Formats: sequence, structure tokens, C-alpha cells
Amino acid sequence: RYAAVIFDLDGVITDTARYHYLAWKRLADGEGVHFDEAANEHLKGIDRMGSLELILASATRAYSDAEKLALATEKNEHYKELIATMSPADLLPGAVAALDTCRAAGLKIGLASVSRNAFTVLDRLGITDKFDYIVDAGTIAKGKPDPEIFLKAARELGVAPGDCFGVEDAVAGVASIKSAGMYAIGVGDPAVLTEADQVIPDLAAFRIP
Ligand code: BG6
Ligand code: MG
Repeated sequence: RYAAVIFDLDGVITDTARYHYLAWKRLADGEGVHFDEAANEHLKGIDRMGSLELILASATRAYSDAEKLALATEKNEHYKELIATMSPADLLPGAVAALDTCRAAGLKIGLASVSRNAFTVLDRLGITDKFDYIVDAGTIAKGKPDPEIFLKAARELGVAPGDCFGVEDAVAGVASIKSAGMYAIGVGDPAVLTEADQVIPDLAAFRIP
């Protein structure tokens, strides 16, 4: 019996990938850097500066740290405009039912998103109070695939990592869960999420392991 579940947010509970894509795309176009939806796939679960580094890897010139910070800020301002229109209608199918199933089973519920916009997104979705602990991404030194964020969630929930399971849509996220010593439910394609202990197509298929 597991004592806690730790959910990822983007791509599991709601689909913000489109908004991240649009915001990065505008930035890449402005810089004359090639960026498409296939490249966007590789950014799932990767934090803001890490994502920017991946995009600028195909740029023809070098960027200073100050320039990078300015670009990341500009992208985030656009992203914030896009998510401002989100509502509970943006919850993915099965998301609320999965959270309620875990609550009814007596599990502690954590959220481990590297997004610094996670609190805003949860608020727009109207589900903030469904979590016992939400990691503040600003307090995390190493993003996914490092285990830090899942280990912090477990510690704050007061549960040993081995008594937790995590739910993730990204390769980097599943790797983070596994290196934290937790059981991993992947959400997406089993051919992609090969490190997960089980893979489901979406949260409508969620069952407590
Ligand atoms: C992750 C997303 O959840 O958060 C990434 O999958 C995103 O695409 C990352 O880059 C950081 O988000 P933010 O909101 O802090 O820029
Ligand atoms: Mg995700």
C-alpha cells in the first residue's frame, strides 16, 4: 500500500504544452532560430532556462547570460498572458477523479512541477486545495531528471520515497521519479516512457497501483 502520490502538472493534469510552444515559438522566430512542435516535445518537463538553452543550441550566435535572462523573461510574460485565460474547462479528462480517488483512499497528495507558474495554473484550474503539498519550483536547485523535486515533495508530505508513487508525462519526469526510488506511472506513449513501471494513455485510465 502506498502512502502518497506525487503528480506532475503540465501534460498530466492540464495541457499547457501548447501554450509553452506558442510562447517559445514567438521567441525563436524573433531570434531567427528554427523551432517546431517536434523540438517542443524535447522540452517537456525541462525547466525554463534549460528549455531556452535547448532552443538556442541551434542558434548561429552566442548569447550572454543577460540576454538569456531577458529572453526567458520575455517568453514567460507571453506565457502568462496565454494561461490567464485558463479555467476548470482546461482540466484533462480524469484529472479530478484521479485526485479524488487518491484522497478517498487516504493517500497524501503532492505536486512536483518545475514550472514557476504552477501556483497560477492550479488556481486557474480551481484545484489548489486538492493538494497537501505543492513544491515551489523556485526552491529547487536541480530540475528533472534530477530526483530533488520528488524527494522534496515526499519529505514535506512526511512519507518515505519508497512509499510514494509519481505520475508523469515526460521522459525527464519519469527519470526523476525513478531516481527518487519511487514507483512511476507514465502518462502517454509506452514506447516513449520506457522507464515507467506502467504507462496509461491519460488520467481517465488512472488506478492506484
Ligand atoms: C514544465 C513544462 O512543467 O515546466 C516545461 O513541462 C516548462 O515545458 C517548465 O518549461 C518550466 O515552466 P515555467 O512556467 O517555469 O517557465
Ligand atoms: Mg509534464
